Amino acid sequence: MLKLTHYLTKNYADPLGHTLAVYEKAGGYQSAKKALGMGREAVIEEMKKAHIRGRGGAGFDAGTKWSFMPKESKKPHYLVINADEGEPGTFKDRTIMERNPHAVVEGCIIGCVGIGAHVAYIYVRDELHLSKARLWQAIEEARAKGYLGKNACGKGYEVEVYVHTGAGAYICGEETALLNSIEGKRGEPRFKPPFPAQFGVFGCPTTVNNLETIAIAPTVFEVGGDAFSRVSSLHDFKDGGARLFGVSGHVKRPGIFEAAVGLTLRELIYDLAGGVTDDRAILGVIPGGSSSPVHLVDELVNVPGDPRFEPYNGKSILDLPLGVDTYRGIGSMLGTCCAIVLSDAADPVLALQNLMRFYRHETCGQCTPCREGCGWAERLLDKIVAGTATLEELNRVTEVAYNITGNTICAFGDGAATPMMNFTRKYRKHFEDYILNQASHQTRTLVV
Ligand SMILES: Cc1cc2nc3c(=O)[nH]c(=O)nc-3n(C[C@H](O)[C@H](O)[C@H](O)COP(=O)(O)O)c2cc1C
Repeated sequence: MLKLTHYLTKNYADPLGHTLAVYEKAGGYQSAKKALGMGREAVIEEMKKAHIRGRGGAGFDAGTKWSFMPKESKKPHYLVINADEGEPGTFKDRTIMERNPHAVVEGCIIGCVGIGAHVAYIYVRDELHLSKARLWQAIEEARAKGYLGKNACGKGYEVEVYVHTGAGAYICGEETALLNSIEGKRGEPRFKPPFPAQFGVFGCPTTVNNLETIAIAPTVFEVGGDAFSRVSSLHDFKDGGARLFGVSGHVKRPGIFEAAVGLTLRELIYDLAGGVTDDRAILGVIPGGSSSPVHLVDELVNVPGDPRFEPYNGKSILDLPLGVDTYRGIGSMLGTCCAIVLSDAADPVLALQNLMRFYRHETCGQCTPCREGCGWAERLLDKIVAGTATLEELNRVTEVAYNITGNTICAFGDGAATPMMNFTRKYRKHFEDYILNQASHQTRTLVV
């Protein structure tokens, strides 16, 4: 059931919503004070009760992640906030930075208490000028008011927050590449283990959280962990609270909407985004950024043996609640929860070619299957679009994808292979059309 919420977005419409004055009026920094008074273990427990699944794509439980940080350590601990947001189709975090930056700063204080850190770095890609400016202003205001500093919120615990700018590379959103980038090294992913909680930035225990994951923490301490979890219709899946849902592509009103976890794609596309452009049929939907699989609307949910899926079995994927485990259960991925809609006026062959250009450009080149595979796929797609490829070469796109999957240090490779496998399988006829009937000479376009 559609349940709009206004936790992160309550001041989005206020032109001064990013200022401390407006944030304080709505109870700002009371949650940080509460958390500072509770101490580390209690903060983690409260966060666990909220069942906040990481908003960066992998969907790991935030409270559990905080609990992985060492209890006794001679090295300093760090909190790193991932605001790189390079996933195509994803534009939710920037709205928080621009319109509610104090929620991020307050979330940093709570996160620092939870993991025993005194310093948080917010990693923002450099081209997000307004995001940086708003964060800087918020940090300055919070420092001047005593919410940050040696005696944060007057509670005797030091918290400092810094913005670190990245140079706009998608790979730097991968958490270990991001840590290398902060250290001034090439943005290349590290082998795991060791995980950041053991060996993170500067070799110290580090928690990396997505910006939205951190920004929602003050709400958890305001509403209460359990109560906030129950806002979600997927409480049974331990996928709690509310989150930002994005939608772009062929919809009448693309944008970011805040709602209880468990919204369906049908509600997102038709109720919130006003339906498909020109009221056309949907060719496909990519649910959570380009690294998640494209789905046809006539794909039916079929997850036998799990009673939680019973209400959805036999229904269109459009009616499956958007959740980390609901999507995992059908072999898909919720990702960043920012959907891309393709109407039947779009050409899936050109869409895949466009995506492969992106992945070839953004691969860091460290792992051979990813570096060579992305380039190979792009060249094959170019041939298909030019009408000079063979059916064997179409099959090679899938072969290349299978050779990348699971054979790389980080998940970039799997993310690049996912559209290759899914587009070529689900729109096989469109691809064959290019090869057998020279569809490149037709008048279809990538974006209408
Ligand atoms: C290629 C690649 C790009 C990524 N980009 C982002 C990103 O821009 N923002 C983000 O929060 N997570 C991104 N991630 C996921 C992070 O590695 C990490 O899982 C996340 O920041 C953890 O935060 P969370 O647990 O709060 O979701 C990316 C992962 C990969 C493999």
